[in-house]
Amino acid sequence: MSVPSFPFLFFVFFTLSGSSSCLAKNTTRQPRQLSLDYYAKSCPLVEQLVGSVTSQQFKESPVSGPATIRLLFHDCFVEGCDASILIASKPGSKELAEKDAEDNRELKVEGFETVRKAKELVERKCPGVVSCADILVIAARDYVHLAGGPYYQVKKGRWDGKISMASRVGPNIPRENSTVDQLIKLFNLKGLTVKDMVALSGAHTIGFAHCKHFVTRLYNYMGKGQPDPNMDPKLLHALKMYCPNFGGNLDIVAPFDATTTFIFDHAYYGNLQKKMGLLASDQALTLDPRTKPIVQDLASDKQKFFQAFVAAMDKLTTVKVIRGKRHGEKRKDCTMHM
Ligand code: HEM
Repeated sequence: MSVPSFPFLFFVFFTLSGSSSCLAKNTTRQPRQLSLDYYAKSCPLVEQLVGSVTSQQFKESPVSGPATIRLLFHDCFVEGCDASILIASKPGSKELAEKDAEDNRELKVEGFETVRKAKELVERKCPGVVSCADILVIAARDYVHLAGGPYYQVKKGRWDGKISMASRVGPNIPRENSTVDQLIKLFNLKGLTVKDMVALSGAHTIGFAHCKHFVTRLYNYMGKGQPDPNMDPKLLHALKMYCPNFGGNLDIVAPFDATTTFIFDHAYYGNLQKKMGLLASDQALTLDPRTKPIVQDLASDKQKFFQAFVAAMDKLTTVKVIRGKRHGEKRKDCTMHM
């Protein structure tokens, strides 16, 4: 087996932080009619406006891509795709907002900045019309495409949510040590199938993870004092050099896809087949009989991955969508309720 060298394996980033945890809700309710032309009259240029920001950000800071895609995922899995993740905690308030939950600490500032800049521009042209939730969905789509992934149409018409509570994050966000069973259950709760889950995990074709999310795989997998046998030895060696068992630099990150780090392609799945997955939860997809055939299928054909990803994104971005004033708002500043 030929194992690629890892020329760009390690990067140090300084990320913003935030805090977490409960209430797993059944969010399989039918999406209320979103539409492609929702802003046709009220803000016909919305996608171009957002596009001008995403293309500029991508040039200046490509990490904005993975940062925004992950931000969208964490938004949609907690209270639905309602931009609740963008709300800032109120100083002195007992309950922190979602973004300050432990599981959201590592969300990079570049994702938040993308939405802030796009919203500012959109507000200048079409004040009070476009939701922060729609802007986040459009921006994530743009970055998928800018990184080499598929372009797809996004439905619009989401309203922003009125609830953002850190305590609702924990049970709704998957972890690197989640079992395939737990992952399937969580995604099912959101109305997503096993295939959707494997396809969406393909977003790990770009972006980075901090050592703490995979360090036990390197030294003490399952508490047995040995590395994970399902990790390629050369990858293991490279990762160990930068991620010591104790006392390492907390800001060091490794790319999810050591082969085509910045390109949105299907290499993630090929890597999994070569035991080059970074997280235990990624690698586990090749070990479970329910997910293994899907990994094989998506590894074999980039177009198949793109199709499955687009279909799953369409479902992810309609999870528990809010429509109308009763439950929603159209924020002017995405960080503050109206
Ligand atoms: C299936 C269960 C999943 C688990 C357990 C998981 C876990 C993680 C973890 C631990 C990180 C590293 C964070 C850090 O160290 O900064 C990460 C990063 C990331 N995740 Fe996931 N994730 C999952 C699914 C998804 C899905 C469905 C998407 C999008 C559709 C996604 C998109 C991303 C992206 C793009 C990054 C890179 C972020 C960056 O570099 O800024 N993940 N994920």
